[in-house]
Amino acid sequence: MSEIAVAPWSVVERLLLAAGAGPAKLQEAVQVAGLDAVADAIVDELVVRCDPLSLDESVRIGLEITSGAQLVRRTVELDHAGLRLAAVAEAAAVLRFDAVDLLEGLFGPVDGRRHNSREVRWSDSMTQFSPDQGLAGAQRLLAFRNRVSTAVHAVLAAAATRRADLGALAVRYGSDKWADLHWYTEHYEHHFSRFQDAPVRVLEIGIGGYHAPELGGASLRMWQRYFRRGLVYGLDIFEKAGNEGHRVRKLRGDQSDAEFLEDMVAKIGPFDIVIDDGSHVNDHVKKSFQSLFPHVRPGGLYVIEDLQTAYWPGYGGRDGEPAAQRTSIDMLKELIDGLHYQERESRCGTEPSYTERNVAALHFYHNLVFVEKGLNAETAAPGFVPRQALGVEGG
Ligand SMILES: C[S@@+](CC[C@H](N)C(=O)[O-])C[C@H]1O[C@@H](n2cnc3c(N)ncnc32)[C@H](O)[C@@H]1O
Repeated sequence: MSEIAVAPWSVVERLLLAAGAGPAKLQEAVQVAGLDAVADAIVDELVVRCDPLSLDESVRIGLEITSGAQLVRRTVELDHAGLRLAAVAEAAAVLRFDAVDLLEGLFGPVDGRRHNSREVRWSDSMTQFSPDQGLAGAQRLLAFRNRVSTAVHAVLAAAATRRADLGALAVRYGSDKWADLHWYTEHYEHHFSRFQDAPVRVLEIGIGGYHAPELGGASLRMWQRYFRRGLVYGLDIFEKAGNEGHRVRKLRGDQSDAEFLEDMVAKIGPFDIVIDDGSHVNDHVKKSFQSLFPHVRPGGLYVIEDLQTAYWPGYGGRDGEPAAQRTSIDMLKELIDGLHYQERESRCGTEPSYTERNVAALHFYHNLVFVEKGLNAETAAPGFVPRQALGVEGG
């Protein structure tokens, strides 16, 4: 078993949680973290949210983050590669934000309140022109002004309060969850939208790219954008390089190693959402579910993708009569029986199993299932309701 060391989230987690608790709590969190660390977290979030721009030259924009009398400055740079921290302070425009208002907008619930305590200052170079610069000079100035205003617009859009559309994010990050292979996105949208404003912890098994360290991460980036207040973990059996954003952590481990999974959940659980998009080997899918489902929070979801492998022998699946070797679909069918354990005479007088008591619903789609965690405590139909057929045709 490999043990994992996971870096703590520290500042961003504190801000995510405080952002839903009102301005006073958020102000307190800003004070505890310090405005410098808060400004870094804000820049990190803008890096995540700002899409690349097709500009002929990069544009530098100054950020001033204020809290009462305190002010800290950062400069960011934007171009076709997206947004990043700039090494040089000089900027074509400066945006000033109140830290608490901006954080509420970025991380607080989308509740119709406007978070627009921002100001824009344009540098003198946006207007400096003398007639002796001629037509070419005027065109250069116009192109420069266009670049700068586009970049400012992009940063303001990234700082705006809004929910993301999962279909658009799947396209943006090249996720295969919505394409020729799978049609999962609409089902994810249906079941995940209620979590979009919540400070959720999400674990996805399978980062993508297999042995290539630099490949994969598309879905982690997508979840990070979709769950505005989410902390996202990705687990893969291979070492994965690269930074997917400040609300993503990548872990290395085997989803079929129960001891490893126990160590992992002790360090980073519980989760609101677990998605199994790993090996799709039936035995691994069942082991991961057994280890991780108990660490899903009540009201949370455990999702298993690519259930087709339950019918594929190469993955430990089977298309035929029940056999000793159970598939992932066999396990899920048992969960359906478990959901109704109260109604089954064979289960009368025996204690419910963990899943019988804690699976509240199962939602099946083609190759995809959402298992809902919740207390399954509805009582059986009363004893006077006859269990035998009444002998009434069509009754
Ligand atoms: C289909 S890809 C994941 C794609 C990614 N979730 C996405 O939607 O962009 C499957 C990944 O699972 C990883 N994997 C395979 N076996 C595994 C195991 N036993 N434990 C953890 N990860 C595993 C592979 O290395 C691969 O990167």
